[in-house]
This record gives sequence, structure tokens and C-alpha cells, in this order.
Amino acid sequence: MTPPIVDDGHKDLQDFRNLPRAPILSYLQKQAQPDAPRPKPAAPTLPYPLLAGFLPNRLFKWAFEYLRYRFAPRQPFPTYSATGSDNGVYELQGDAGEIRIALAGDWASGTDEAAGVAKLITAFDPHYAIHLGDVYYVGGPAEVDENFLGIRDPGRAYAPCLWPTGSRGSFALNGNHEMYALGGIGYFRIMLPKLGLTVNGKPQGQGASFFYLHNEHWRILAIDTGYNSVGWPIVERIFLPKCALPPQLLDWLRTTVKLDPKDPRGLILLSHHQYFSRYDDWYLKPAEQLAEFISRPVLWFWGHEHRMAIYEEFGVNGSIRAFGRCIGHGGLPIELPFPRARHEQCRIEFTDEREYPNDEKLRIGFNGFARLVLRGERLDIEYVDVCGDVAFTETWVARPGALARIAPTPRP
Ligand SMILES: [Fe+2]
Repeated sequence: MTPPIVDDGHKDLQDFRNLPRAPILSYLQKQAQPDAPRPKPAAPTLPYPLLAGFLPNRLFKWAFEYLRYRFAPRQPFPTYSATGSDNGVYELQGDAGEIRIALAGDWASGTDEAAGVAKLITAFDPHYAIHLGDVYYVGGPAEVDENFLGIRDPGRAYAPCLWPTGSRGSFALNGNHEMYALGGIGYFRIMLPKLGLTVNGKPQGQGASFFYLHNEHWRILAIDTGYNSVGWPIVERIFLPKCALPPQLLDWLRTTVKLDPKDPRGLILLSHHQYFSRYDDWYLKPAEQLAEFISRPVLWFWGHEHRMAIYEEFGVNGSIRAFGRCIGHGGLPIELPFPRARHEQCRIEFTDEREYPNDEKLRIGFNGFARLVLRGERLDIEYVDVCGDVAFTETWVARPGALARIAPTPRP
């Protein structure tokens, strides 16, 4: 095995352990983070690191930021003009007969490991680099700068992290954490203008939080499950948000993409939230909405859960069926052991539960990302860990009318 990532001046994984999904606790954990990396090798981690957020000088800031950022309407939901030059539908482009695509979920933590994953993505020289969402802790402008755009925070001693640029395009999906600060201000106003198709080395701007890439064999559809993953504080604890796809996105699928259930090409879905999980909550609404457009099983990559898991085909009645690929192990600590199964019917083919040797003395798993290579009707996928080793591989072909896996052979 390649030696693990060494301390590189970025953030420490221990400050993201057991990161709560509740926005108010994400704001608290943000305040508990120190202003500089800890000396290494680190002392054993604190049993209750969140308590640091209750220090008097931080408590006021926590309350102020939470109230200011959370009690605000969501940012307007941008969409594409059907007649404009950018309609969110792009022809897949590569070179020398192949198209390389890097996918990582929950990467934007700013940790040494996130920086290590970014280096590996850059070494892969992707045509497209796509982040599946979540900028920590709350996706505010300063965090977007420091954890995604590679801009140092002058008030802190951390080295920043930069999302790699694909030679044909770089994109980011919307996660729940992006929506915690002024309803997505960092994502919609700061990140998206720095992404999109790459022309002459320059990003053209990502026009919306969803997009579609395609060629004669493959289609890649990226959707926004983050926008409707939050509601108003307190109310959202009673009426749980369902991550429904916004009506503007559905209209775009009908009128611009014209997504056709009979289309014989292979279909890859990208989202932040999981459709189903063996260990965690299910978000069924998007899969139900997509049944209008999709009649065959799809490959579906998602994040949100901080682990790597390869699922067998699964779906619920009235919704699409999918081969789920959870790759939310981009930049946060992977808690070990994995929790007990909550949904035994979601059968796992592979999970990466190896222990990652680290200088923070944490019992955690490996971070990583996915490398996809399209060659004609063939798709090769490698799931690569933060040390550059391949944890799992699979090969698919998009033959007219069906998506078939040719290696490794799935369980009958
Ligand atoms: Fe998430």
C-alpha cells in the first residue's frame, strides 16, 4: 500500500468527526474548529470536540451566524433558457478515443485528505471533474473560498483546497450543506460562476445546479436534490424535506433535454442525496419523479453518506431502478465500523471498510473518489483511495436497450 497522506497544512479530519446533519449543529461544529492545524502526531482526540463551540467567545458568534444565515429565504433557483446559448445540454468531448471523468462526493472539507484526493484527480487529467456536493461546514462564502476555490482565509493558518479543473469542464452539484448559509449564497453566487465548460482553459460558468452530458452511447444527468433538502428552521424538523426535484428542472427535462424512456443509450445519474441506503435514510421523491423519463435501470452515483458502497440493483415500486454507487467518502472522516444495517433489502456488493492509517490517531476509513473512462460503448470505473490504490473496479457496456456489466460479474 502507498504511504498515507502526511500533514500538509490543511484542516484536520478530527474536527469533522460525527458531523451532524442538523444545520444548527453544523454551525456549532464550525465554531469549534481551531484556527490552525494541530501539531502532529496529534494527541488523542477529544471525546466531545463540539463543546469547544460553547466557549463564550464562540457561542455568541455561533448564535449570530446561525440566526443571520438560516432565517433567510433560499437563493432564486437558476435555470436555463431553452433558446439561449447555454441550455445545460452538452456533447461529451474527450481525446484519443476516450473521455475521462472524475467524481467525488462530500469532498470540500479542506482537510489534508481532500487535498490528497484533489492531487490524484489532477494526475488523472480528467476531461470532466464533477463534485457531488457538500461544502463544509455550512457552505458560506468564506468556506467556499477556502475549501473549494483554493483561496486562503487571511484570518486563519490553513492551506486552502482547490477543486481540480477538467480540460473540458468542471461542475458541482448542490448539497444540503451548501443550502445552510443564506439559502445557498456561496454555491449559487460564488461557486457556479467559476465552473462550467472549459474553453481555452477558462471556465464559462455553470448556469444552473443541474446539467446533461451525452454522446452516441452514454448520457450523464446531474440533478439537484439539495435545493429542497432544507426548509425553514424548526418547521423542517416537523415536515421533513424530501429533496424533491424543483419544477423548473423537470420542465427542462421535458422540453430541453427531452429525456426519453425509450432512449437505448446508457444512463448515469449524479446527485448529492442517496436514493436508498443500507445504513441511512432514503430519499425516494427524486426517483419517483424521474420515473416519467426513465424505464431502464441506471447507474446512480451519490454522496451525502460518508462512505463508499457498491449496491446491487434496487428500486421501489413506482420509481426507477438503480445500481447505487455511494461515493460520499471524498474528504470527511469515514466512521468505522459501519453502522448496523437499517435496510437489509439494499444488498451490498462491496464496501471499503479498511482502516486508514493516519497521523491523528483516528479509527477511520479511507477517503477516495471514482475514475470513469468512456471508450465507445464501454465504461471502466475505478474506485481509488486517498493513497492512490484501487479499491474496486467494474466495467459496463451500453448496448442498445440495456446497461450491462461485464466485469466483475455481479452476483446472480
Ligand atoms: Fe450531504
